[in-house]
Amino acid sequence: MSSVTTTPAGKGLEGIVATTSSICYIDGERGVLAYRGIDIHELANRSTFEEVCHLLWFGRLPNQQELNHLQSRLAQERQLNPAILDLLRAAPRHALPMDVLRTAVSALSFYDADATKNDHDANIRKSIRITSQIAMIVAAYDRIRKNKRVVDPDRSLSHAANFLLLLNGEKPSETAEHALDIALILHADHELNASTFAARVTAATLSDMHSAITSAIGALKGPLHGGANEAVFRILQTIDSKKVDPVDYVRAMLADKKKVPGFGHRVYHTEDPRATHLRDMSRDLGNASGQPQWYQMSEKIEKFVKAEKKLNANVDFYSASTYHVLGIDEDLFTPVFAVSRISGWAAHVIEQLDDNRLIRPRADYIGPEYPNRYVPIDRR
Ligand SMILES: CC(C)(COP(=O)(O)OP(=O)(O)OC[C@H]1O[C@@H](n2cnc3c(N)ncnc32)[C@H](O)[C@@H]1OP(=O)(O)O)[C@@H](O)C(=O)NCCC(=O)NCCS
Repeated sequence: MSSVTTTPAGKGLEGIVATTSSICYIDGERGVLAYRGIDIHELANRSTFEEVCHLLWFGRLPNQQELNHLQSRLAQERQLNPAILDLLRAAPRHALPMDVLRTAVSALSFYDADATKNDHDANIRKSIRITSQIAMIVAAYDRIRKNKRVVDPDRSLSHAANFLLLLNGEKPSETAEHALDIALILHADHELNASTFAARVTAATLSDMHSAITSAIGALKGPLHGGANEAVFRILQTIDSKKVDPVDYVRAMLADKKKVPGFGHRVYHTEDPRATHLRDMSRDLGNASGQPQWYQMSEKIEKFVKAEKKLNANVDFYSASTYHVLGIDEDLFTPVFAVSRISGWAAHVIEQLDDNRLIRPRADYIGPEYPNRYVPIDRR
């Protein structure tokens, strides 16, 4: 019996259900996103990133004691082997933070006692450890490339507050901490997006968590995925510096058949529920910080693209202006996505390895007909 199905998948595997999973529920028609069945709006309004990590990794919300325990384990893991800091220092100053993150996460395995263990408990330990380490790497490299002192972590702070401390060298305001915490919750998981799929494919070969997360970071980097938030801000910056009308600028992009970053989605055919929160945050933080222009430009672009192309803003559109007013450089936007999405990647690697089978689809062959003759080189 042939192992090839008769119905090839559509380009880009659109609409293909590639696995079962109990982590993330999406209804693209109704604009619903839920982690373990809990609606993202409720989590954004009431939860914390640490609580969401528990939900993703352990399958349910923690009680107070369990939350305290996870918080303290994440805090204890706020340490990097000196060799990792040396690696960050050795990177050329022009190296992009996302590339440095990819390489450093791969190197973390050298110093991880659980590196080669693929059992459930080891994967939980690695999820906690890598989540703390990714935040540290992103912040430390940013300071190193700016010739600033690497800041010591504060184990009493939340994940969001500690990250901002490591990045900026000072404790964040409550507003900034809360805004980043919500952004981390919103980005934590999104079912079989490209980077998570890459992580699961790698894990399914019985490779290991570090390899899976390294694969995921490589996939997240692309402008069709996590790299879109950075591309959005570069457009806003150009519009601002050239003093052009945002609608004219984007109209010209569309006339050139260019895609407008931050719009469209493979799964959502209505508003991306994450964009709803990020839009509000972009507006409120922009007004509070005296930089309302980024939100104002974004709003004009959103209205135009929606009217012209019937495309909705996705998670990346308003995260760009939100991160900018939080004082985060644009080439850190995608690494900050990874600071959050590590929680979802890790949950998927755990789920994959708890009930594993190699992921190995087939290709619909469209090359020269078989058998094609081998022509010796002197007769070609
Ligand atoms: C997200 C994305 C990759 C989904 O891709 P997809 O499901 O393969 O959809 P397609 O690229 O095939 O787009 C379908 C149609 O909508 C158009 N379209 C989709 N996104 C668009 C965008 N951001 N700007 C302009 N047109 C867009 C395409 O040009 C295409 O039109 P056509 O049928 O006339 O050729 C795509 O919308 C995109 O590239 N968006 C910009 C990058 C981005 O924001 N990525 C982050 C996603 S969270």
